[in-house]
Amino acid sequence: MQTNLRGKDMITTQEWTKEEIDTVLDVALELKRKRALNQPHAYLRDKVLAMLFFFSSTRTRSSFEAGIAQLGGHGAFIDSTTTQISHGDTAKEIGEIYGRYFDGIAIRQCDWDFGNQYIREVAAASRVPVLNMQDDVYHPFQILADMLTIIEKKGDPRGLTINVSYAYASSYQKPISVPQSLILLMTRYGMNVRLTHPPEYKLMPDIVEQAKENARRHKGSFEILDDFNAGFKDADVIYAKSWGAMLTTTDHQESARIGQQYTDWITDERRMAMAKDDAIYMHCLPADRNIEVTDGVIDGPQSVVYDEAENRLHVQKAVMALTMS
Ligand code: CP
Repeated sequence: MQTNLRGKDMITTQEWTKEEIDTVLDVALELKRKRALNQPHAYLRDKVLAMLFFFSSTRTRSSFEAGIAQLGGHGAFIDSTTTQISHGDTAKEIGEIYGRYFDGIAIRQCDWDFGNQYIREVAAASRVPVLNMQDDVYHPFQILADMLTIIEKKGDPRGLTINVSYAYASSYQKPISVPQSLILLMTRYGMNVRLTHPPEYKLMPDIVEQAKENARRHKGSFEILDDFNAGFKDADVIYAKSWGAMLTTTDHQESARIGQQYTDWITDERRMAMAKDDAIYMHCLPADRNIEVTDGVIDGPQSVVYDEAENRLHVQKAVMALTMS
């Protein structure tokens, strides 16, 4: 267990060692147990977390806000449109100034080719830890919650096959941060990671290379498929969600037009039957119901989406307790 995590940013899981991530998962389970037993765990009394959002959220905002309160602190929700950022406050100024008011700065900035850079500029100027609540490249807290959920549901993840797959959605061009973060972390836990997508939905080449290297180091495997049905075959974990064709076009209408070719990429009961009998269905949510996934699957016995959403709370509390105390 690593105990020297005070002040450490969580921008990507790649910048945390495997032992440090194991510590987060251990602490998350302990905090989950304490909450279940109604045991006080106010490790961050009087600490305040800035929660700066440039993009909407259901789970992330609520779980961070509830989490910091349960740890004895306070979460200050800041909608970027109510600040002076559009009138000139720079990332450096946000890091410097918020770092003096707050004990941690959490940011969601998903703008393509900008969000991660913005968070890193804030972090470079901040004297307190910066937590990435999702950017254009990474969604680390989602993936920590996913890892905890897989361990709870399936035990030791080594040797399990996870299918990280594109699925069609009509609502909007969703970020690629979830599949990218999934392939980076799951390969570090010795899983057999399948990345399944149509040719237009490639992920960033350097992320794919890092995932391959992680798989090599941690004795897992990594493969890329372009056949939706093949991705389901004998998988232990199905994680099929939509993302935009960001690497092909930055034009949202063009991306939506490309997606029209793949409206049959929907997780349904027939596809789930191709996976192992005890396979679990995961999705970070929000999902386009009956477009990305049928009601029968997402509400069915193999779905773990609500436990997965709950685990956001526990892993975020663990990282806040470890880095902000
Ligand atoms: N999964 C997730 O990050 O949900 P929100 O966008 O609602 O925060």
